[in-house]
Amino acid sequence: MSRRRVFVTRIIPENGLELLRAQCEVDLWEDALPPPRDELLRHAAPCSGLLTMLSDPIDGDLMAACPDLRVVSNYAVGTDNIDRETARERGIAVGNTPGVLTDATADLAVTLLLAAARCVPSAGHNATSGAWKTWEPCGHIGRDLVGQTLGIVGMGRIGYAVARRLARGFDMQVLYHARRDHEEAERVLGARRVSFGELLEQSDFVSVHTPLTAETSGMFDAAAFQRMRPGAVFVNTARGGVVVQSDLVQALREGSIFAAGLDVTDPEPPAADDPLLHLPNVVLLPHIGSATVGTRGRMAEIAAENVLAGLGGRPLPYAVT
Ligand code: DGY
Repeated sequence: MSRRRVFVTRIIPENGLELLRAQCEVDLWEDALPPPRDELLRHAAPCSGLLTMLSDPIDGDLMAACPDLRVVSNYAVGTDNIDRETARERGIAVGNTPGVLTDATADLAVTLLLAAARCVPSAGHNATSGAWKTWEPCGHIGRDLVGQTLGIVGMGRIGYAVARRLARGFDMQVLYHARRDHEEAERVLGARRVSFGELLEQSDFVSVHTPLTAETSGMFDAAAFQRMRPGAVFVNTARGGVVVQSDLVQALREGSIFAAGLDVTDPEPPAADDPLLHLPNVVLLPHIGSATVGTRGRMAEIAAENVLAGLGGRPLPYAVT
């Protein structure tokens, strides 16, 4: 029987590729940049499986161009790049990589929160650019963390992991906004579920952990930033699309919030003339939340296992419903 063909849209850790190569014909896109649309269509068309990145738009047109497609396995927990409804209609299984990136992403959210709160980018630039002349009694003044209020938007695995770190390590009070109660966060951390508006008004730090959906798209707009505390720090490790970026820039410029720590933007990367790149009160990273050796290795393994299960007509170990 001929081996099924799988298109892997970027180089991923070898353990995932090995699993696939043992059972499939693997077409690997080896460029550092994602395949352009025409190449994505061309390589995907003869395949039964796709192992995709969050930067690959997998829409209805693409699925229609792939008559044998059985499974799309995203090398990410987020699947907002995939038209899941069309996949469901076409009987194409969709998988993701949840759980294994919780700690790495939570660690990065805390890193961003600390760096933004303590003016690390502007102070660091001062130190390395030759502008550092002396110890400054009133320079580079950041925000205190201990005992402050943390607002978590989206209390899933990652939101809870961030809340645990900051409640335990910095004695923060935790508020959260989510669709349902998080019993463990309430019992263990004393977290309190509140409306989005209350969270904005009462939090000194706001950290976003919600998926990008029609409901969450643009939820952080001018009105939301205006409701936040003047000294607030905003952290986003989820998806850039939950923020109206020009409104965030405005809030940071006016000083209506103190600083932002961002691992995600919309688009990624931001345009070269995007003011976000030049604001002193922004810590900006190139979407590296899950970028640790262990995490990316596990993600590769899970993504490959999802492909193999889909090709074999078995339920995916990590299916997105
Ligand atoms: C995800 O998995 O969705 C992250 O954004 C990248 O690992």
